[in-house]
Amino acid sequence: MPRRQPWFIIRPCRRRLCLAFLVIISITILSMLGFTSYLMEIPYNQFVWPDINAKQYAIDSRNDNHHNSRVLNPNNYTWLLAPEIRMAHSTTFIYIIIKSFVGNFEQREAVRNTWGSRRVVNGVEVVPVFVMGRYEAGLEHNENWNLVELEQERNKDIFALDFSDTYRNNTKKFMAAIRFAHESPDTPAPLFTLLIDDDYILSVKNLVEYAMTKNSSLENYEGWAFDTSPFRLAFHKHWVSINDYPFSRYPPYISAGAVLLSQATVETFYHMIPYVKEYSFDDIYAGILAKKADILATHNPAFVFWTRETTIQEWRSGDLIAAHGYDAKKLIKTYNYHRGLGVPM
Ligand SMILES: *[C@@H]1O[C@H](CO)[C@@H](O)[C@H](O)[C@H]1NC(C)=O
Ligand SMILES: *[C@@H]1O[C@H](CO)[C@@H](O)[C@H](O)[C@H]1NC(C)=O
Ligand SMILES: *[C@@H]1O[C@H](CO)[C@@H](O)[C@H](O)[C@H]1NC(C)=O
Repeated sequence: MPRRQPWFIIRPCRRRLCLAFLVIISITILSMLGFTSYLMEIPYNQFVWPDINAKQYAIDSRNDNHHNSRVLNPNNYTWLLAPEIRMAHSTTFIYIIIKSFVGNFEQREAVRNTWGSRRVVNGVEVVPVFVMGRYEAGLEHNENWNLVELEQERNKDIFALDFSDTYRNNTKKFMAAIRFAHESPDTPAPLFTLLIDDDYILSVKNLVEYAMTKNSSLENYEGWAFDTSPFRLAFHKHWVSINDYPFSRYPPYISAGAVLLSQATVETFYHMIPYVKEYSFDDIYAGILAKKADILATHNPAFVFWTRETTIQEWRSGDLIAAHGYDAKKLIKTYNYHRGLGVPM
């Protein structure tokens, strides 16, 4: 009959096993949650982002020397619907390119009935265009596509591209918008382009007045600026793996919600995009392009990002140009309230 081992031999051994087991479990859980990614980050001062000779090739591209075989982003998704731009008034104009999900019918209608209508302000023609993809997330076809076509027949302000309209495909929208603004059919290029989400309220008057104080031939990349680190924790909407983005910080960037670009910057981005690797968040990607082109991300608190109450006085004085957080109902209500008080919108 085997002799029972004394407790003081077995117990410490089991304890150690138990401890090791606990440690392994904790590390696994922490790494599944994304905590351990923080340890693997590369310091931001070593930032490099894959491109193919982007600075030189962008210059070449301006001189019509395209390095087609070296392109990383052909930026050539098929245009399914294109807006009718034809300038009625003049060659001085601004594009407002509104990023909208294909299914946001009600929101687009609210935008059209408020700040998203075509008009002339101080001699500047303001041209709103909605940019969207084709399919709702995860679907192979879009049952509502015929409604989008009807919407286009009525309004002729939709620029739709052949890709899935998902949050992480927003960079494709951004790249397409830059291409559209630069190649703008049958017209010279717009002096300024505002890229804006469909859940903003915008004072077109304040926008035009502000933009016209600037020189469209100089670089301008402006809005609510951020200087942040990637989110590593799993299940976060903006979660990022070390593989996709290894650095401890992002380059300074402007929130994609509202970005004011000059003609010069649209042109710079246009020529650079084909040679700079895509990144799935459009605002970070624009930040990467700006960094490579030595363009400053200019913070302007008049493009409010954090949803908050705004005051009539702020709109009147021009301290506000755009503000975030307006669903269709709130947008119509607020806009009409402002108009009723004679606030410049
Ligand atoms: C876009 O360009 C790529 C590379 O040049 C090509 O393979 C692809 O077929 C093009 N797609 C469209 C829709 O034109
Ligand atoms: C982006 O769109 C393409 C083309 O429709 C699709 O294949 C891909 O799955 C989409 N990507 C994401 C991250 O949704
Ligand atoms: C705008 O900037 C360009 C390029 O620097 C310059 O040539 C032009 O004179 C400027 N225009 C005005 C009105 O300042």
